[in-house]
Amino acid sequence: MTDTIFVTGASGHLGRAVIDNLIGAQRVPPARIVAGTRNPDRLADLAARGVAVRRIDFDDPAGLEKAFAGAGTLLVISTDAIDGAGTRLRQQKAAIEAAAKAGVKRIAYTSLPAADVSKVSFAPDHYGSEQAVKATGLPYLIFRNSWYAENLLGSLPRAVSTGEWYSSAGKGRTAFVSRADIAAAIAAALANPPSGSAVYTLSGAEAFSNDEIAALAAGISGKPVKVVHLSDGQLAGGMKAGGVPEAIVPMLISFEAATREGHLGDVTGDVEKLTGRKPQSLKAFLEANRAAFAG
Ligand SMILES: NC(=O)c1ccc[n+]([C@@H]2O[C@H](COP(=O)([O-])OP(=O)(O)OC[C@H]3O[C@@H](n4cnc5c(N)ncnc54)[C@H](OP(=O)(O)O)[C@@H]3O)[C@@H](O)[C@H]2O)c1
Repeated sequence: MTDTIFVTGASGHLGRAVIDNLIGAQRVPPARIVAGTRNPDRLADLAARGVAVRRIDFDDPAGLEKAFAGAGTLLVISTDAIDGAGTRLRQQKAAIEAAAKAGVKRIAYTSLPAADVSKVSFAPDHYGSEQAVKATGLPYLIFRNSWYAENLLGSLPRAVSTGEWYSSAGKGRTAFVSRADIAAAIAAALANPPSGSAVYTLSGAEAFSNDEIAALAAGISGKPVKVVHLSDGQLAGGMKAGGVPEAIVPMLISFEAATREGHLGDVTGDVEKLTGRKPQSLKAFLEANRAAFAG
């Protein structure tokens, strides 16, 4: 197929990595790629390589239909508006509806595992967007992306330095996967789409409980790390006492509940199916990023 591939959110970490994989591993000619972003200046290097860069903003729906015109496949990268007020769903619906009006041939969307049932507080944004994609009647690709392994680089430094990781996730497991593996898998699917529609859950090759991750981090850092198991209420109280902004505490607690319920633990072979290689193991990821948490 020689249609163009339009990637929204192209200056974000994932969008940029998808485009790099399209040009690199997938050998898609830059002339077949359109990068949509609120910040075209950040993509001057892509423009210089022959990628068309267009200014788009889901908060400015008037321009979207024109921007998407002529696209074969549109990848809608979910936005970072996690305010709990429905902003993200409104933004993504605007993009999906504009794509259908523009005559796009296929829509792809980055979602969340178990989006229909997940306890993650913003799961309804993702499920609503999946439903909006399906309602267009167009062929679709839905990528239900598991938690990024990179998320651990935000939480592990404190756990390693204090030796304690406060959690209410219990024995729940998470199938962490690196953002690089997600980007490679999405690019492979965009470059060689299946006929019809598909839903992928892009996960790591294994799922780990927080106790197991603490043991990995301890092994790599050489410092003991113990999970302190709490109830949701105890954890929320501790977060508030520790200065976590009150508004985001329910979202953080929802991540724990989703983990406990197994909503982030699905292990699939979808990354390998799409890329032809196994995703990086969590141990290898943490070893490669040792400096970020074990300093
Ligand atoms: N699975 C996980 O663990 C996990 C973790 C973090 C985030 N996510 C989700 O995955 C997405 C991509 O991850 P990332 O690492 O690339 O995040 P990121 O680097 O923070 O990028 C945020 C993305 O949101 C886009 N965006 C924000 N407001 C927008 C708007 N009004 N219109 C259009 N696009 C808008 C940005 O596009 P431009 O700046 O280029 O316009 C950018 O692509 C995130 O936005 C979030 O929905 C998943």
